[in-house]
Amino acid sequence: MARAQRGYRCSACGAEAAAHAGRCPRCEAWNTLEPFQRGPTAGGPGRGGHIAAEPGRALSLGDVPDDAGVRLPTSIPEFDRVLGGGIVPGSLVLVGGEPGIGKSTLMLQAAARLADAGLAVAYVCGEESPRQVKMRATRLGVEGARVTLIPEANLDAALAAAIEANADVLIIDSIQSVYVDGLEARAGGPAQLAEAGARLVGWAKEREIATIVTGHVTKGGEIAGPRLLEHLVDAVLYFESAESGLLRVLRAVKNRFGATDEVGVFEMTGEGLRSVESPSAAFLEAAGIPASGCAATAIIEGSRPLAIEVQALAVESHLAAPRRIASGLEVSRLHLLLAVLARRGGLFAGNLDVVATVSGGLRLRDPAADLAVIAALASAIRDKELDPATAFLGEVALSGAIRPVQQVQRRLAELARLGLERCLVPPGTAPVDGVRLLPVANVREALRVAFSAD
Ligand code: TYD
Ligand code: MG
Repeated sequence: MARAQRGYRCSACGAEAAAHAGRCPRCEAWNTLEPFQRGPTAGGPGRGGHIAAEPGRALSLGDVPDDAGVRLPTSIPEFDRVLGGGIVPGSLVLVGGEPGIGKSTLMLQAAARLADAGLAVAYVCGEESPRQVKMRATRLGVEGARVTLIPEANLDAALAAAIEANADVLIIDSIQSVYVDGLEARAGGPAQLAEAGARLVGWAKEREIATIVTGHVTKGGEIAGPRLLEHLVDAVLYFESAESGLLRVLRAVKNRFGATDEVGVFEMTGEGLRSVESPSAAFLEAAGIPASGCAATAIIEGSRPLAIEVQALAVESHLAAPRRIASGLEVSRLHLLLAVLARRGGLFAGNLDVVATVSGGLRLRDPAADLAVIAALASAIRDKELDPATAFLGEVALSGAIRPVQQVQRRLAELARLGLERCLVPPGTAPVDGVRLLPVANVREALRVAFSAD
C-alpha cells in the first residue's frame, strides 16, 4: 500500500524539509517547522484503505471504502475484546485508571505485541525514563527491540519524533506528562489536557495512526483530568480493580468502534497482565469460601455474561445512624433494597451497620442482580449461609415483585457452566439445561426458598 509522504513544513515561508530542525533552512526562522503529511495520490485511498483526509471535500457515501475490518489486533485477547477487535487506524483511545493499576504495563505489553506483528510502534514515555521502561520490559519478558521510545514531554516534538519513526501506532504514557508548547497553562492541567487531546485527535485522524493515550484518574474519578477528554476521543477504557486482589477489569465506557460496557479481565502477575480466559471462574474464586452474606448471580457486561458474587456483612452498630457502605454498587440501590427487604420481606437491618460489595472489583449496573443483593443482605442479617450451589436472578420492584431480566438464558447457561445447580428466577423463565429453576414471584417467597435448606 502506498504510504503517504511525510515531512516538515515551515509555518512562516512554506519551505519543506525531510527532517525536523530547529531552524527553517530557507527563511531561517526558529521553531517554525511543523510536521505535515501529503496524501499518497490525489483522492486515492491512503493507509488502511481510508480516503486520504481532505477536509471539507464532499464525497458520496458509496465512494468511502468499507474498511470496518481494518484493525490492528494487539494479540492480548482481553484488550482486543474491549477495543472491539483491535485498534482502528486513525482512532484515538484513552486508557484511564488510578495510578498503579497497570496502565503502563498494559501499554508496554501491547506495544511489544504490535511490534512483533511487524508494526512500527512509537512509545512516548513521559512518566518514566527509558531505563525504567527497559527494566519493566525485562520484567515482562518482552524484547521491545522494535519499539521506538520517545522520552519527550513536548507534545509537538514527540509527534514529530513519531513521524520520524514512521509509526503505525503511537502510545503516549501519559497524557498528563506531556505539554503543548506556547500554552500558558500548567502541564496536566485542564487547558493543557484539552489542547493536547484536540491536537491528538486531529493528528491521529489526519495521519491514520492508531493512537493510545493513558490518563490518571483518582479514586472516584472526580478529578477533571481524563474526563475532559472523554468527548474528544473515539474510545474511553477505564481500568478498575477490587480494593484488594490481583484482578483488573478494563471497561469500555465509550467506543465508536465497538460495544460499550465491554469488559476485559486481567490478572496482574509477576510477568505483567495476563488475560483471564474464564472471568466467571476467577470472580467466583476471588469471592473465596462461602460464608453468610454471599450470593451468586450472573450479570451481562458488554457482550458476555459473567458470574459474580455479591457479599454483604451486617453487624451491630454503635452509631445513632447505622452505616451503609457499598462498593461496586450504588449506595442508593443498597438503601432501596434494604427498604424493600424490610417492608416486603419482613427483615429489618435497623440497628445494623451494613456493607455490600461485589467480587473482583466489578460494578453492578445490572438490575438483574437485585435478587442476589437481597439474598446476600438477608443472609448477612440472619447470619445464615445460603446454599453455595444456588444462584439468584431477578430485578426487584418496590412492591417486592420479582421482575423478569434480559438475556436470562445466557446468564443461566453461564451459571450452569460454572457448576451452579439451582437458580431462583422470575416466574415464567424458560428452562435451561444443567440448572434447576426455582421460580419466585416476590421477595417473601424468595427468602422462603433461599433458606428452605435449613
Ligand atoms: P503500572 O503499569 O505502572 O501502573 P500505572 O501505569 O497504571 O500507574 O503498574 C504498576 C503496578 O503493577 C505496580 O504496583 C507493580 C505491579 N506490577 C506487577 O505486579 N507485575 C509486573 O509485571 C509489572 C510490570 C508491574
Ligand atoms: Mg504508568
